[in-house]
Amino acid sequence: MIALKISRITTLAEDIRGLTLVRPDGGELPSFAPGAHIDLRLSDDLVRQYSLINDGAKAPSCYQVGVARDPHSRGGSAFVHDHLSKEMEIRVSAPRNHFPLVEDARNYVFIAGGIGITPIYAMARWCAARGKSWKLAYATRTAGRCAFRDELRAFGQAHLHHDDEGKGVLDLAPYLETPAVGTHLFCCGPQPLMTAVKDATANWPVGSVHFEWFSAPAAASTANEPFEVVLHRSGQRLSVRSDQTLLAALRDAGVPIASVCAEGVCGTCETPVIAGEIDHRDQVLTEDEKATGKTMMVCCSRSRGTLVLDL
Ligand code: FES
Repeated sequence: MIALKISRITTLAEDIRGLTLVRPDGGELPSFAPGAHIDLRLSDDLVRQYSLINDGAKAPSCYQVGVARDPHSRGGSAFVHDHLSKEMEIRVSAPRNHFPLVEDARNYVFIAGGIGITPIYAMARWCAARGKSWKLAYATRTAGRCAFRDELRAFGQAHLHHDDEGKGVLDLAPYLETPAVGTHLFCCGPQPLMTAVKDATANWPVGSVHFEWFSAPAAASTANEPFEVVLHRSGQRLSVRSDQTLLAALRDAGVPIASVCAEGVCGTCETPVIAGEIDHRDQVLTEDEKATGKTMMVCCSRSRGTLVLDL
């Protein structure tokens, strides 16, 4: 993590703060692509991830994030809104990207809800700058909660929907019809929107629909079986009980593994795997990455039989 200074705080929309973070010495920062996020260490035990909004292709001079005040905040958004101010220093991770744009798609469909617009806006700007074929639907509860409204309107192909304007929730049908070859869809927003898009695109080609989850979607309850883990480097052998996560078993054994979300959506606990039949339960790895079995999220995923980790 590096210490960055908050150089600017803006209001992106009602209850959405924009933070601009720079190096205290004014130097360049590691670059990133649309869809990337950074971790903000808000306090010793409070780390939150926020998507990067600005163009980070070439040695950016700042990182910009947007943070919505969440009435159900577990501490992160309330801290950002109530305690952060200009000139404060904050520890920030290097950018990571679990929601990368497919750069050679023929067409792009973007669906965003609420604060989920932040990675999608960066993607739409990338497409617009390159003359790509794209369309965007962005739903908010009210017009006042719509971030980047003027910028998105200026693109001409962004549909802004506000639930309180009498037409009900966003009609997704025009965006989810059978896709033309080479179409990729990117979606980020509240869980009901994400789940609706996920269900409606079940017949889309594998790998063409991409999600950035804020929290794990409701899953059918699956019985957990105990399993054994071998730590290849240390030679340790552990048992993971059925009522325990692999992350908890590793920590009980004194193996330090970083985690933030503990529910398979942030990617922090990604751990290399040498052998085993992984029961992937995260929302971070793509289907191809899951099939290769080279890594797993130990906070939520399990194993069918003995697992060998590269630890
Ligand atoms: S801690 Fe977030 S994916 Fe495991």
